[in-house]
Amino acid sequence: MNELDALVDSARASFAQAATPADLENAKAQYLGKAGRITELMKGMAALSVDEKKTRGAAINQAKQAIEAALNARRQALADAELEAQLKAEALDVSLPGRQRGQGGLHPVSLTMERIEQIFGSMGFEVAQGPEIETDWFNFTALNTPEDHPARSMHDTFYVEGGYLLRTHTSPMQIRHAVQHVKKYQARLDAGQGMSEIRVIAPGRTYRVDSDATHSPMFHQCEGLWIGENVSFKDLKVVFTDFCRSFFESEDLVLRFRPSFFPFTEPSAEIDIQFQTGPLAGRWLEVAGSGQVHPQVVRNMGLDPERFIGFAFGMGPDRLTMLRYGVNDLRLFFDGDIRFLSQFQ
Ligand code: PHE
Repeated sequence: MNELDALVDSARASFAQAATPADLENAKAQYLGKAGRITELMKGMAALSVDEKKTRGAAINQAKQAIEAALNARRQALADAELEAQLKAEALDVSLPGRQRGQGGLHPVSLTMERIEQIFGSMGFEVAQGPEIETDWFNFTALNTPEDHPARSMHDTFYVEGGYLLRTHTSPMQIRHAVQHVKKYQARLDAGQGMSEIRVIAPGRTYRVDSDATHSPMFHQCEGLWIGENVSFKDLKVVFTDFCRSFFESEDLVLRFRPSFFPFTEPSAEIDIQFQTGPLAGRWLEVAGSGQVHPQVVRNMGLDPERFIGFAFGMGPDRLTMLRYGVNDLRLFFDGDIRFLSQFQ
């Protein structure tokens, strides 16, 4: 092998050994740099004759081109390898499942509230809202429950400074709403004319000192009130039976009105329901308190109890939600556990 072929071979070998572009540029300098082997060989031609220069020059040039070709090939190979490594490092696993964006939804008790409003709305009931911080008058006294009444002890609650309390039921809304309604019609009533009936539900939060699997210190109620000149217990039965059958989507649901006591209704009844099929079939389940509005309460609404009469009921949307979805611990509604709540979306 002549000297020039050996030089090309050695250049190829050292380029092949260069593992990085920087190594390769160093190796290049040894062969093609200003003080490299090729330059050296060119300088060595000075003493040659013109003919010799021609052949020698051509041979050196060929060697130089071969070395440059080897250099470019190696440059390309290193660049390809670098790109491949980079692509590998940034690779996306397109088979990975995507990150889910959590979808919000309504709380099961809110779903029940909406359902109650929708069903009673279809029966011509307005929806009213009132304060959770109440006065003694609206929560008790106006509802025929004077200060020394024993029924108050069943409604122990949270008292707020200034004589206020957290309402123990939604019944104060009977008075608040009726008083507003009567005000609107006062002139007509004073003239001995009539007024449109009061037909309202009042859903909302209520509070009592109570805490176990079926009682929470904060819970929900929905009040119902229908007052007119000829509204009877029969209407209560029809309205509430219709409501329960719509709410539970069950035509063969039966209701029982069990005699009870509330200071603000007379007579009073607990309303129990019984499913004929399904996991709860055959059991009586209490869902509401109810009764004919007491004459004293009608008077406190600003109406003449000799002329106006009606009924009221108060039900527990938390309990209705438990029955509808088969939830057995009330506390699940207030824990905020997404595994529980997401089942209602
Ligand atoms: N307010 C009563 C309670 O909380 C329920 C009720 C409302 C009873 C309306 C009769 C009429 O227990």
